[in-house]
Formats: sequence, structure tokens, C-alpha cells
Amino acid sequence: MAGNTFGKLFKLTTFGESHGKAIGGIIDGCPAGITLDLEAIQNELDRRKPGQSKIVTQRKEPDTVDYYSGIFEGVTTGTPIGFVIHNTNQKSKDYGHIKDVYRPSHADYTYDKKYGIRDYRGGGRSSARETASRVVAGAIAKQFLSSIEINAFTSSVGDIFIDKPYQDLDFSKIESNIIRCPDEATAKKMITKVEEIKKQGDTIGGTITCVIKNVPVGLGEPVFDKLHAELGKAMLSINAVKGFEYGSGFCGAKMKGSEHNDLFNADGTTKTNLSGGIQGGISNGMDIYFRVAFKPVATVIQKQDALNSAGEIVEMQGKGRHDPCVVPRAVPIVEAMAALVLADYLLLDRVTRL
Ligand SMILES: Cc1cc2nc3c(=O)[nH]c(=O)nc-3n(C[C@H](O)[C@H](O)[C@H](O)COP(=O)(O)O)c2cc1C
Repeated sequence: MAGNTFGKLFKLTTFGESHGKAIGGIIDGCPAGITLDLEAIQNELDRRKPGQSKIVTQRKEPDTVDYYSGIFEGVTTGTPIGFVIHNTNQKSKDYGHIKDVYRPSHADYTYDKKYGIRDYRGGGRSSARETASRVVAGAIAKQFLSSIEINAFTSSVGDIFIDKPYQDLDFSKIESNIIRCPDEATAKKMITKVEEIKKQGDTIGGTITCVIKNVPVGLGEPVFDKLHAELGKAMLSINAVKGFEYGSGFCGAKMKGSEHNDLFNADGTTKTNLSGGIQGGISNGMDIYFRVAFKPVATVIQKQDALNSAGEIVEMQGKGRHDPCVVPRAVPIVEAMAALVLADYLLLDRVTRL
């Protein structure tokens, strides 16, 4: 299997499966001399962990991170940072029913066809449990970014969405409710929706908006490594993501250039920001903002037709502990992936111009 490493200079490699002994990662290229706030890293993991509220999977994992290298007396040493999160609450027997059956729209069929062998327990390597390692690395990257601020939040669940521009939202309210939506009235409706969906044994999709402030002008490496291309790759690498748009996104396709152009102020800032803070693949100093679309995840606790390894269509019913809507748990994952891209591109910027 290739493709377990992300980044060019600030590089994360992750390992582990959902029901193996542990998951973890190695961060190579983290600069020396960063005094780490280890509690802040654990807080980020707690925002992603299962069992945190009534609207997420009830798998109970403390997700405590153990550091093996690269940190001395709380300060990064510049050597690889190795870390492990032990799996402690696996219920592998819950997955016996998918040993020889491929769940529709999950990764069972493609993993089996590609590798001819798969750890079906909890989805194995295709499980979003892997993203806990990204959250650890992203939380370390955030501490390197200093004044760059990254805030992600739930902007829609099904057809319920925040009907306001992000500038009118108070980001300090994101953590005030279990769905992670800073607009309280919309948050209540979203939570009710997820509860209804959960009762039906179904799942529902949603979107996350991410806003990055205080980005210096100049991050991004044209032409193949444009900043938005890397952010897109980062977001599309998250499990269950089906869409990415930044700035005006797909709405821009309906506009005229005279409406869409961001006119300059004399200091180089722009009066509007439909460019989403990136032009020509390089940050222009305005806010970077993007939206990520998550599908309703595959495991529904209802009877559905599935395919088995003998090539027969069989009826199956999802079992085990699953997320009815992954969006609230994915908020810290989106922030982590954004932080990894920015840390990497800040380092790249230091070696690509004088
Ligand atoms: C935070 C998070 C939690 C998830 N929980 C589940 C789950 O409980 N059940 C499920 O079937 N898929 C879940 N997924 C999605 C699967 O990991 C994903 O759909 C699967 O690996 C197939 O990949 P794809 O949807 O990207 O094609 C979750 C995804 C995320 C980001």
C-alpha cells in the first residue's frame, strides 16, 4: 500500500488499523525549538474522539496520545516525532457479518479487489480512526503556525444550513454545542435532525466551512503545488469527503467577471474576497475560506442489499457503533489537515525565494 505520507517538508506518515493494537504516526520535518502545549493537542483529540456526545458513535476510546520521540522537556528537537494512540475499545465480533460481505458504498469491495486481503474489523485501514493521527500532527502544526488562525465549523446538515456569511458568526460559539455550529438556532435544528436520523438507523451528510485568517502573502508553489490544490488534496483525503470548494466555488461559475473581480485597495488588500484568499495558487493575505462536503456514511442500521465475495447479492443489516452524521467529529480533522498544509507551505516558502 502506498500513499500513507502527506506533506513535502512537514511530513506526516500514519499507520494502524481500527481494530489493531494501536494507530499512530511519525512527523518528519517539524522544526526544532517549538515549545509544545501537550494539553492543547489532547484537547484537539477530545474534539474528534468517539463517544463524546449522544449524536456520534458510542465507541468509548480515551484516545490518549503517547509520544515516543522528537520531544525533549516539552520542546521539539527537530528529530522525527513518533507517537502512538492505543486502541482500547474494539468489538471485533460486531464486524463478523462483513467478513465475506462488502457493504455498499464503503471501502470493503475496493480494498479486497485491490489487495486480495483485508482487515474487515471496524473497516481496518479504511476506518476514520486513522484520522486521530492526523489530528495529533495537525495540533502540533497549529503550534508552529503561531498567529495564523484556523476555525472550522459545521455549516450544514442535510438541508439545514447557516444562512449567514461567516463574517457574521462568532467563532467562540463553535464549541458551545455538540454539532459544532456557531449559529445557535441553526445548531438546535441540526441536532434534532441527527437525532431523528439516528432513530431511523440511517445516516445524513453535511458540510464544514473552514476559515483561515492572518495568512501571509506568498504561500503556494505554482504550478502543480498551488495552495488551493494542496488544500483540496488534504480535504479530499479525509474519509467520506465528496466535495471541496474555495472562495466563490461553484457559485462563481454563474457570475460575470465584472461582478466576480476582487477590486484592490491601495495597500494590496481587496474590497471583496471571492478569490478566497488565493490567486494564481499563492495566498494574497486575505482570509482563506473553503467548504468541504461529507456524504451520509455507508453503515446504516437497516436492511440493504450487499454483494458477497462469492458474487451473490445478499441482504445485510449494519451492526456495531457508527456515526449517524460524521460532520461534528470531522471539524477538528478539517482544521488539522489545513494546519498541516499551511505548516508545510510556510517551510516551503523559506526555501523557494530569497
Ligand atoms: C469522523 C468520521 C467518522 C466516520 N464514521 C463512520 C461510521 O461510523 N460508519 C461508516 O460506515 N463510515 C464512517 N466514516 C466514513 C468511512 O470511513 C468512509 O466512508 C469509508 O472509509 C469509505 O471511504 P469514502 O467514503 O471516502 O469513499 C467516518 C468518516 C469520518 C470522517
